Amino acid sequence: MRIYEFGHELEDSMAPYLAVDRSAPKHECWVTGHMVAGLDGTAAIDGKVGALSTGSDQTLFRQMRQIADVVLVGAETVRREGYGLVRLSDEAQEQRERDGKPPTPPVAVVSGSLDLNWNLKLFTEAPEHAPTMVITSASADPDRLAEAKRHATVIIVGQDRVEPEHVLREFASRGYGVVLCEGGPTLLGEFVAADRLDELCLSIAPIFGGDNLPVGLTPDGAGISSFELKSVLGEDDTLFLRYESARQKRAHDDE
Ligand SMILES: NC(=O)c1ccc[n+]([C@@H]2O[C@H](COP(=O)([O-])OP(=O)(O)OC[C@H]3O[C@@H](n4cnc5c(N)ncnc54)[C@H](OP(=O)(O)O)[C@@H]3O)[C@@H](O)[C@H]2O)c1
Repeated sequence: MRIYEFGHELEDSMAPYLAVDRSAPKHECWVTGHMVAGLDGTAAIDGKVGALSTGSDQTLFRQMRQIADVVLVGAETVRREGYGLVRLSDEAQEQRERDGKPPTPPVAVVSGSLDLNWNLKLFTEAPEHAPTMVITSASADPDRLAEAKRHATVIIVGQDRVEPEHVLREFASRGYGVVLCEGGPTLLGEFVAADRLDELCLSIAPIFGGDNLPVGLTPDGAGISSFELKSVLGEDDTLFLRYESARQKRAHDDE
């Protein structure tokens, strides 16, 4: 066992995240999950993440989108949170453009029901360089599908449900290398169960209590996945843990 001692102040709290090499994913694209949990593992308070997230966590949440070629989110999170567009600082946008990327990444929403509020800015004000995508399966209701196509770029993968590997294959074909999965717990759990999570950035907020919803929900029968701790940062009594898939590490070691 080792003790993690308080270290020096970081000038730029994004620097450790920007320094990560995400060029060698396990599968189609590199997938980073970014979640916040309470001390008891809860993922929401009264159906929303806001009260769970400290100021420094909210800042990191916004800044992390800088690393993404696409931000992926489940429909229930969009419904509950009234999900908005990605906003980045001028500096972050300029850096992305220097890296040959559009100034902000698009958001992609996974939904089977297509029961979404098309009046959200996520759909009405998406910039031309980052149109919002909706990912669904071929069994989606035809009327809702037609409606979705009026408001978003619709991607159909799979017959009855959206499989993570099909989503990532589609992203890879569009040139997306880094996918930032912002949850919710159901979507994150599906990606972990499909062995499609390369990295997990998990904030632990100093709060106990909240909804009976863990930060990840793997489907019944899914195996156990292991991760390795890569970095620990702290501010506001909040821990910022960065893990990478243990198999990812072994794959590097074998090379
Ligand atoms: N703590 C955190 O960091 C964090 C992050 C995000 C969200 N949250 C919280 O988590 C809660 C929502 O999470 P959740 O787990 O209930 O839902 P979720 O993961 O956000 O979304 C689940 C929905 O996504 C769609 N979906 C997921 N997998 C699919 C598949 N394979 N095929 C087709 N559709 C699929 C379905 O949409 P349809 O129902 O439209 O078919 C499903 O109902 C909210 O309270 C939110 O505040 C917390």
